[in-house]
Amino acid sequence: MNANGYVVVAENLRKTYRVGRREIPALRGIDFALTEGELTVLLGPSGAGKTTTLNLVGCLDLPTGGSLRVAGGEVFDGTKGVSQGRLDALRRDSIGFVFSDFYLLPTLSALENVQVPLIWNDEKAPDRAAQLLERVGLGHRLTHRPDELSGGEMQRVALARALINGPAVLLADEPTANLDTGTRDEILTLLRGLTEDGLTVLMATHDVELAEGADSVLHIRDGELREV
Ligand SMILES: Nc1ncnc2c1ncn2[C@@H]1O[C@H](COP(=O)(O)OP(=O)(O)OP(=O)(O)O)[C@@H](O)[C@H]1O
Ligand SMILES: [Mg+2]
Repeated sequence: MNANGYVVVAENLRKTYRVGRREIPALRGIDFALTEGELTVLLGPSGAGKTTTLNLVGCLDLPTGGSLRVAGGEVFDGTKGVSQGRLDALRRDSIGFVFSDFYLLPTLSALENVQVPLIWNDEKAPDRAAQLLERVGLGHRLTHRPDELSGGEMQRVALARALINGPAVLLADEPTANLDTGTRDEILTLLRGLTEDGLTVLMATHDVELAEGADSVLHIRDGELREV
């Protein structure tokens, strides 16, 4: 976190993809800051640049212009990005990701799925994994495999897995796209509760109703943030 209480600061952030000789300007210079302990929703239609934004904040990809700071570390400073090693370290230590597909490993139990990111630290921390499953309401499902869980339960496991390394920022890309509206609202309530515990969340969605539960909403379209 920097002195202003911002966990992420993006200024004039740009991303242009190159496909052969074609240039695709996915982000055309956007400015935003994520405040610690807040749920920010990035709202916009398909192709607006939501996943691109999350991938940059999540250190999965580098910007092509502007500046970006994540969890107090410079990712891009207007002309160049940090090394791949630094990017990997930032992602591992500071970022949690959840997606609309839950990407659980089918042969592992809920508990083992939550422990997967710990491979990098050479630890198992079963108590911490169990506590996190408890926190997301799955204390009674530790030994269940994904095919023995509902969609909402699978997303809760994915959420616990995203939190196991104590990230500064949770990035959620359409996390409720594959869930019914009742389950969607439960996941939203859970995310809200996690922000009250101090987690910073950036959630991408095209669902206006999800935005109603946010602390702040960024409206994106054609790679630009818009006032509404
Ligand atoms: N790896 C890539 N290479 C080339 N173009 C890309 C790449 N990823 C995204 N794009 C393009 O960048 C633009 C923004 O895409 P992005 O995936 O960020 O949109 P989105 O808001 O997440 O859309 P959706 O709601 O459909 O997931 C689109 O025009 C898309 O085609
Ligand atoms: Mg997307």
